[in-house]
Amino acid sequence: MSKVTVVGAGNVGATCANVLAFNEVADEVVMLDIKEGVSEGKTMDMMQTAQLLGFDSVLKGVTNDYSQSADSDVVVITSGLPRKPGMTREELIGVNAGIVKSVAESILKFSPNAILVVVSNPMDTMTYLSLKTLGLPKNRIIGMGGALDSSRFKYRLTEALDCNANEVEGIVIGGHGDKTMIPLTRFATYKGFPVSNFLSAERLEKVAADTMVGGATLTGLLGTSAWYAPGAAAASVVESIIHNQKKMITCSVLLEGEYGQNDLCIGVPVILGKNGVEEIIELPLNADEKAKFEASAAAVHKTNAALKEVGAL
Ligand code: 2OP
Repeated sequence: MSKVTVVGAGNVGATCANVLAFNEVADEVVMLDIKEGVSEGKTMDMMQTAQLLGFDSVLKGVTNDYSQSADSDVVVITSGLPRKPGMTREELIGVNAGIVKSVAESILKFSPNAILVVVSNPMDTMTYLSLKTLGLPKNRIIGMGGALDSSRFKYRLTEALDCNANEVEGIVIGGHGDKTMIPLTRFATYKGFPVSNFLSAERLEKVAADTMVGGATLTGLLGTSAWYAPGAAAASVVESIIHNQKKMITCSVLLEGEYGQNDLCIGVPVILGKNGVEEIIELPLNADEKAKFEASAAAVHKTNAALKEVGAL
């Protein structure tokens, strides 16, 4: 019997819960929100697709009742405000820090062994805050940003190559910010061949630039943060953990010397299995990529420092 709780029934949380149920990632998916009736309504709506779509997972919606999340294997935290057009993810820190901290504490009262997947923005900093305040081992706190950014990178590669979505590979490391993420074009492949065989340096630069503003582009179009890819990215992280798939996915995790960094949660490729983060993969970055990673790390450190200013740490 596997159980996942998604906290937050907004667009991202609801999409994540929907994907988890549709793909039968867990036997039971609980969705919890502070707004009376929203989780109950959305999960009921989803359950009414069970026969249409042919899934057997059971969804349950609750209002603020953390006891219903008891004994979850994995908990996805999407709570907090999304960004509005023109806002950076970093601007959300003051409001979201308090929310994420209190949600995580409530969750752990009922699921002391759960692995936490952090989605709330600024995601690297919310992951770091959880790590610093909850006293959990580092393998159990995972920020999902890199899974999303890598998916957006692959979308842009697919667009540039005019190929099938499942024929490209590529990852984005670094912070989950418009200026901090690093699409690793040098390592990206199309059917196993470096994409530089098919795309010019200029086209690849555009792929990287479009990837980096992926969230902002959608926020501009939608008037609020995106949700389909963020929700599905969080669900992919949960799936690798629950099914012990040992997939390599870029996630924000605590670095202790890896990539020359310490006391920082930032996106790097990791192996995700039943213990959460099973291994951190150190890529052989070249001088340019290393410099970008260092700049990204410095920016994330700076955002983390604001946690003290807002009294969250
Ligand atoms: C995004 O990039 C929600 O941060 C998320 O769309």
